[in-house]
Amino acid sequence: MRNLMKLVASAVACLGFTTLFAATALAQSPATEQASPTNKAPIVLTGGDERPAMSLNGDWHSIPDPYFGGLYDFHKHESKRGWFMNAKAKPGDPFPLDYDFAQSPTLHVPGDWNTQIAELFFYEGPMWYQKDFDYNLKPGTKVFLRVGAANYKSIFWVNGKRICDHTGGFTAFACEVTPALVPGHNFIVAVVDDTRHEDGVPTTKTDWFNYGGLTREVGLIEVPDAFIDQFDLHLNRADRSEVDGWVHVANAKPGEAVEVSIAELNAKTSATLGADGRAAIAFHPAGLKLWSPESPKLYRVRLTAGADSLQDEIGFRTIEVRGTEILLNGSPVFLRGISIHAEAPYRTGRAYSYKDAETLLGWAKELGCNYVRLAHYPHDETMLHTADRLGLMVWSENPVYWAVQFDNPAVYANAQNQLDEEINTSRNHPSIILWSMANETPINDDRTKFITALADHARSIDPTRLITAALLVHGTDDTKIVDDPLGAALDVIGTNEYIGWYERHPEDIDKFTWKIAYDKPVIMSEFGAGAKAGLHGGPDDRWTEEYQANVYQHQMVMLNKIPQLRGMSPWVLMDFRSPVRVLPGIQDGFNRKGLISDQGQKKEAFYVLQKAYVDKTVGKAQ
Ligand code: GCU
Repeated sequence: MRNLMKLVASAVACLGFTTLFAATALAQSPATEQASPTNKAPIVLTGGDERPAMSLNGDWHSIPDPYFGGLYDFHKHESKRGWFMNAKAKPGDPFPLDYDFAQSPTLHVPGDWNTQIAELFFYEGPMWYQKDFDYNLKPGTKVFLRVGAANYKSIFWVNGKRICDHTGGFTAFACEVTPALVPGHNFIVAVVDDTRHEDGVPTTKTDWFNYGGLTREVGLIEVPDAFIDQFDLHLNRADRSEVDGWVHVANAKPGEAVEVSIAELNAKTSATLGADGRAAIAFHPAGLKLWSPESPKLYRVRLTAGADSLQDEIGFRTIEVRGTEILLNGSPVFLRGISIHAEAPYRTGRAYSYKDAETLLGWAKELGCNYVRLAHYPHDETMLHTADRLGLMVWSENPVYWAVQFDNPAVYANAQNQLDEEINTSRNHPSIILWSMANETPINDDRTKFITALADHARSIDPTRLITAALLVHGTDDTKIVDDPLGAALDVIGTNEYIGWYERHPEDIDKFTWKIAYDKPVIMSEFGAGAKAGLHGGPDDRWTEEYQANVYQHQMVMLNKIPQLRGMSPWVLMDFRSPVRVLPGIQDGFNRKGLISDQGQKKEAFYVLQKAYVDKTVGKAQ
């Protein structure tokens, strides 16, 4: 039983009074104590959300810790163990304790803390989480904790053993917990710190709310000793009857077999692992139907390697550029889109559920979209699976947003790690056609080198998709110029503009012409205007629905004059929370450029854009 654990809290005298800093040293049985440290770097499990898991969703006890006393002592030295006072202090223990998870309030996981407890709305800092769970480890298996996302820095312990640290608020990761588990009752403790950092990715200033916490699903995944950790299956661009790819098996021996099968097509293939643990896949499933917005065909694909097997829902399509055209399955396509933040409709807060995804992407379909820009960070797997099923192509974005520290190698490493986690988690979603490296970054040599390196890296690990970024444009009078040097590193040029909102009047928009320095496809990745749902007035009265609709009307005229425009994702589908939008009675803490309010009220501009998309009066390629 748990009496193996004995709490030893060290008390320290400080400034004439005793401040109890519980540097809890859990006295474990010697065998467990000698267990190899489990604090390893997290790994990425491709399609990890599709593996059967023991869910750890639900209520976790929680303790806000603004002074980080749970990890740092009074001289700011880090305790190697942190707080795990789930095992109640026994009567007569020498020292009182300053906290007790069991008596502390609970937070629901998944979910940000800001919208769960009113006093935590503006809380930014470390939050402790604790949950008890029972587990019985099967011989020959390993157990991984899979975290859908923890914003922003996080540390996890199981039964007092630190199992992993992670940085990045929007990507999934997994940490092995096997050596830390004991038969029967276990407990997990996490600290999630959403403090913004100058050297963070993103950095301290964003135009969205910094929702903190275990914001996506958490669970335990059981795998055999040798297991499939990453894989990629895609259609061959040169031969659309061929499915290519690879399967990587961790802890396997070269020469072992891997099998990929698609039961619906009675198709299967096998391959053997090389010294790098990877097996190359290439086979021709007869009767394969391609994935497209018009026909979002998905197949249940099973992968097997030794004692491990997993399934994933995969669609097969190609995406490429030819000159200024974007080709889906070899045919030109125009991306009729909308930008979307991961803001939960109605309840607000960080979106995480299929219900959230189906509402948001259902509105996009209603708008007549075949494409969505999931801004400004990787969204949850529920959004990607829903986009796969609804037939919506996706721009997925790494949160290199505005002015991160482009001259800091540690910041680059963080940005590249988040990009790796994004790509390696979600690389088999047919909906994702674009990996966006950044949004509206300032033009300078360090930044262009930084993001070009990210683009080259993304291409090296996933050559099957297109690389883009949302660029700022400049110009004088009625001309917009796109000549950002970063454009040279991109397959598709994204550009943001707010003519008629941040500059000039709606009626001026038509006068603008565009000079684009690249012979590449262009996506107008942002434009729009703010409106408070239900506020009405004339077409030149700011913040009214009529003004926003007027901007959209005039934007359509201008956009149709850009010959190499191949898509658009106006800003933004739904109003979203942002601390920099505080105009009383109008914004009240929300960015109001949504075509729909956070309470689901469609504004007039929604119908202007819907008509343009449904009648296909915007965009060259149909
Ligand atoms: C910028 C930025 C968005 C922001 C928008 C706005 O272009 O990319 O994140 O919300 O403009 O000003 O509303």
